[in-house]
Amino acid sequence: MADQDRRSPPCALVIFGVSGDLTARKLLPALERLAADGALPPEVSLVGVARTPMTDQEFATYCARAVAGSGGARWQSLVDTARYVQGGYDDPATYQRLADVLADVDRAQGTGGNRVYYLATPPRLFSPIAISLGKAGLSRPDDGSFVRAVIEKPFGWDEASARDLYADLSTAFEEEQIFRIDHYLAKETVQNLLALRFANSIFEPIWNRTWVDNIQITVAETLGVGQRGGFYETTGAMRDIVQNHVLQVLSLFLMEPPTSFHPEAIRDEKVKLLRAIRPLDEEREIAANAVRGQYTRGGTREDLMAGYREEPGVDPLSSTETFVALRLEIANWRWNGVPVYVRTGKRLPARVTEVTMEFRRPPQLPLFPGTATDLEPDALIVRVQPNEGLSLNFGAKVPGHAFRVQKASMDFSYTSFREASPDAYERVILDALIGDPTLFIRADEVGRSWRIVDPVLQYWSGDPGPIPLYQAATWGPSEAAALITRDGRSWRHPS
Ligand code: BG6
Repeated sequence: MADQDRRSPPCALVIFGVSGDLTARKLLPALERLAADGALPPEVSLVGVARTPMTDQEFATYCARAVAGSGGARWQSLVDTARYVQGGYDDPATYQRLADVLADVDRAQGTGGNRVYYLATPPRLFSPIAISLGKAGLSRPDDGSFVRAVIEKPFGWDEASARDLYADLSTAFEEEQIFRIDHYLAKETVQNLLALRFANSIFEPIWNRTWVDNIQITVAETLGVGQRGGFYETTGAMRDIVQNHVLQVLSLFLMEPPTSFHPEAIRDEKVKLLRAIRPLDEEREIAANAVRGQYTRGGTREDLMAGYREEPGVDPLSSTETFVALRLEIANWRWNGVPVYVRTGKRLPARVTEVTMEFRRPPQLPLFPGTATDLEPDALIVRVQPNEGLSLNFGAKVPGHAFRVQKASMDFSYTSFREASPDAYERVILDALIGDPTLFIRADEVGRSWRIVDPVLQYWSGDPGPIPLYQAATWGPSEAAALITRDGRSWRHPS
């Protein structure tokens, strides 16, 4: 049974784009698990909106098919009462029908005028849907009720288009009503960054430039772009991963302690950190601190992987980046002079997301002759995925007569908890229903993140020479290694 305070209030959950891939793969299975956990009382109703013609009954069958297994009685009752509205997203008649259905479910199920609109559509439809909801009078809450809109990245394509999107959303919704998802924030291990830093007293004193030598963030994927080539051609790794997931994880990891766990207190600190990241403005600075790459055919004879330009939907001469490495600096009191190296890519050798803090070397390593200088620095490693947990790496004496020091590790794994981690979408859907914006991104964070990546994207779009290539299943182009070895450091091999 869900905790009482982690239970949705009465509400109509309206999913736009309900016949699409995101709904079938992520949202419906998450709703089924939330229902099974008792987090969705009978006063929560599901309303689907899409262009595909379907009756309520056909919609119910579609929902039932999207989940593995039978789903249980609570899920069954959510599906049995589900309603469907068919229509174009900019057609006023669609919204008239939606208004009628919502009035119906308020009467029949006691949803109390509360609505959460989940826009699971392609991003180009966010503006027309928001504007239409506003025009139809469906975006403002009546007294005592709530109306929210949930959208998922990309939030624009650059700073200017993000501002345009914000202006369109604002014709209908106040900022407090807009819930922008970054599914990385909903990962258990990312939330654990807050516990790690602020529920313990041992880490905070060393969380600064006095002790930390450098920080590394790796978001590596083994998959290529698969069937998403068309989408990826207009996106690239910088927009797909760095602008959002990487900068969000980075800001939580490095922000100042918030004055409380109030959502705004946390988001205020995140945006302050984002503001402190020194944007790479000058061409010279960008060329020295930002590396892009694109995968070519690679792998093994048994498992030969196509190159990016051979993927369906991709221009054979494409210069879209499937890999990014950056060296960032944070101009604030705590982190000044501590470089932050980030890298992300498709078709890398492992699927792994890790945040590593490498500590300064002790002052007198030569005390241990023969071992010390090539010893890896001490490090705290947060394994966001897979094998979720933490490691603390340090030097220890190897047993024997000689005084040799070797790396040892203390390890914490999430498997030591009995409780299972909820899926990221369960978390975000329930938070949106409850109205907890902590794990959602505020408008100023979006703008600031674009401010960091925009100059680099503009520089790359000017075509500063051919894009560096890397073979599938390798750690990116040689320029990425050079970016860090130049500073006398190296990328930490993911655990
Ligand atoms: C998405 C990106 O936001 O995150 C995808 O659009 C990427 O390209 C995915 O594959 C990675 O998410 P996860 O949770 O599998 O690490």
